[in-house]
Amino acid sequence: MGKKTLPVACVDLFCGAGGLTHGLQKRGIDVKAGIDLDPACRYPFEENNGNAVFLEKDVESVSAGDLEDFFPKSKYSLLAGCAPCQPFSTYAKGRDTSTDAKWGLLRSFAALVNRVQPDLVTMENVPQLPKHAVFSEFLEAFSDYKIWYGVVNCHEYGVPQKRRRLVFLASKLGEIELIPPTHKERHVTVAQTIGLLPSLRAGEADEKDPLHAAAGLSELNLKRIRQSKPGGSWEDWDADLVAACHQKESGGSFKSVYGRMSWEEPSPTMTTLCFGYGNGRFGHPEQDRAITLREAAMFQTFPKGYKFVPKGEQIHFATVGRLIGNAVPVRLGEVIAQSIERHLLKYKAVTRSGKRAKKRVDH
Ligand SMILES: C[S@@+](CC[C@H](N)C(=O)[O-])C[C@H]1O[C@@H](n2cnc3c(N)ncnc32)[C@H](O)[C@@H]1O
Repeated sequence: MGKKTLPVACVDLFCGAGGLTHGLQKRGIDVKAGIDLDPACRYPFEENNGNAVFLEKDVESVSAGDLEDFFPKSKYSLLAGCAPCQPFSTYAKGRDTSTDAKWGLLRSFAALVNRVQPDLVTMENVPQLPKHAVFSEFLEAFSDYKIWYGVVNCHEYGVPQKRRRLVFLASKLGEIELIPPTHKERHVTVAQTIGLLPSLRAGEADEKDPLHAAAGLSELNLKRIRQSKPGGSWEDWDADLVAACHQKESGGSFKSVYGRMSWEEPSPTMTTLCFGYGNGRFGHPEQDRAITLREAAMFQTFPKGYKFVPKGEQIHFATVGRLIGNAVPVRLGEVIAQSIERHLLKYKAVTRSGKRAKKRVDH
């Protein structure tokens, strides 16, 4: 049986290495193009996503005309746009981000929605976004749409990672919402995700998969990780290994720094620096090293064979870590596509043979 297809053509703005695109494609959405200004995204985006083309471009300079050819009349148009979230993340706490230039990217996305008038829109962002004034402004672009947004616990949808994200959906056809959690109780664990990968020492790489590479550790950090317990903290270490900043810290959020993951739980949120032992709870549950780039990609639900760098080319942890940490989990892309499929079926917008229905539904 051939792969299921939906009569939906998509352009993915801020496409990165293609996490969202890959998930949408897996569930039958025809992603025609991805746009991003980071040239490192081109190889993974194009290599892993069939005929989808990568346009290296600033979204602020994209016009409605640039997108026209990607939206054939025979399909519903979907504009996806995960504008970067730096100004809204918790790291921005305590500083006034109202003048941050990156707020403009959300406005550029809304302006494109206004000009293109796609049938469907999706966006993923940090959970704090609705608390900011810029979000009300963003919603003004959707007066002709039914909208849904909510904060999603990714591990309730089968992502082996405690990642909370805002998901936004909009449709001109009628009411739309995300499908209910598929893994409310059956969370996928660290063990189920990376338990069978070859063992490595800090600083080593797997001969067969160069992305299964662990960053090196200093002597001090090797001593620390040897004394770390899965799910524990620096409180498990001998006093002489604890840094001054830890000793002053009364607990709370820094406890997870220099921690090991637990086998039996989902991983913590992957970040752009998740290959570093000191950057969060990124220690392997039992090997004395931080997680590898491949393990990070698998926590983001990229398939094990997803290619990030051409064969034989040197792997830069900072670049690949950025692509992986910034990605929308592939599985979340699938969930968005499943939600769109359910929505189209509800409004009888798809024919039995999977084509766009001739008559548009009016609401
Ligand atoms: C959150 S990531 C998107 C991840 C992507 N959706 C995925 O699933 O892999 C945001 C992306 O926006 C890109 N970006 C930042 N500013 C941009 C701009 N002005 N124009 C185009 N892309 C931009 C970054 O390079 C980054 O890849």
